[in-house]
This record gives sequence, structure tokens and C-alpha cells, in this order.
Amino acid sequence: MTETLEAIYDKCMANEDNIITILQEIQSKIGYIQEEAVNWFSERTNIPPSKFYGVVTFYSQFHQNPRGKNIVTVCCGTVCHVKGAPRVISKVREDLKLKEDQDTTKDMLFTLERVNCVGACSIAPVVLINEKVLGKVTPSKIVKSLKDYKG
Ligand code: FES
Repeated sequence: MTETLEAIYDKCMANEDNIITILQEIQSKIGYIQEEAVNWFSERTNIPPSKFYGVVTFYSQFHQNPRGKNIVTVCCGTVCHVKGAPRVISKVREDLKLKEDQDTTKDMLFTLERVNCVGACSIAPVVLINEKVLGKVTPSKIVKSLKDYKG
């Protein structure tokens, strides 16, 4: 762990201008913004953790919890909402057996995320599974699509 963090530090030559780069590297190497890593960089750079978390919470690209191998992103923009996104989310949660307070499956195979309009309203409701875009998604269609990722 320390070797990974030292490598990130060396690469970024840490200063306050590089907080975003440091966080991107942490997420790239560790998978998410781990508290331990933030504390390590805070001590190493004398930048308070609050500065790191200010950036983490501002940019949606950063994640503070481990994410699953597959990211299921449901568009919750207005058009997708009207066209059935809430029903799709309910079905995904049921199919992946996600509890109310869970967005990642216990086996770390899936993480469910929501975004605003992804710019494909003509095929709403839209779901992305990793990089794959699915349009006109129905609850039954999403269950079939998820099967392909269950190994
Ligand atoms: S609202 Fe979902 S793609 Fe635009």
C-alpha cells in the first residue's frame, strides 16, 4: 500500500495544484478514494484532508466507497424518469438483491449508480452497463442484459 502511495506521490510531485491528479491516481490504482490514502497524502503534503474531500465531494468522478466490477448507470434525467427509469431501478435493485442502503452487491460484481441526462433522450429510458449504452430499457430487458455480466 505505502509503495503504491509513494509512487503516486512521486508521479504527482504533490502540491495543492495537483490534488485532482493525486485523487485521480488514487482512484485509478486503488479503485476509490480510500480514507487511509487521503490521510497519507495529507501528512505527506501538509495539505489538510478537508481540501482533498472538498474536491472529492465536488466532482462526481470520485467515489468514496469501493465499486463493483460492473457499473450499472441508470439515467434519471427528466425524460428517462417519465419513460420509466424508476421502474428500471427497482428491477435492477431486485435482480441484484440490493438492500435499500446498498448500491454495490456483496460479491462486488455490480454497482448501481444514477446520473442526470446522458444526452440520449430519444432512446429513453437509458442505462449504461460499463461502457455499453442500452436504450428503451424495460424492467425485463435490463434483467436479460444483466445476465450477460453475471458470469
Ligand atoms: S433524460 Fe435520460 S438521456 Fe436524457
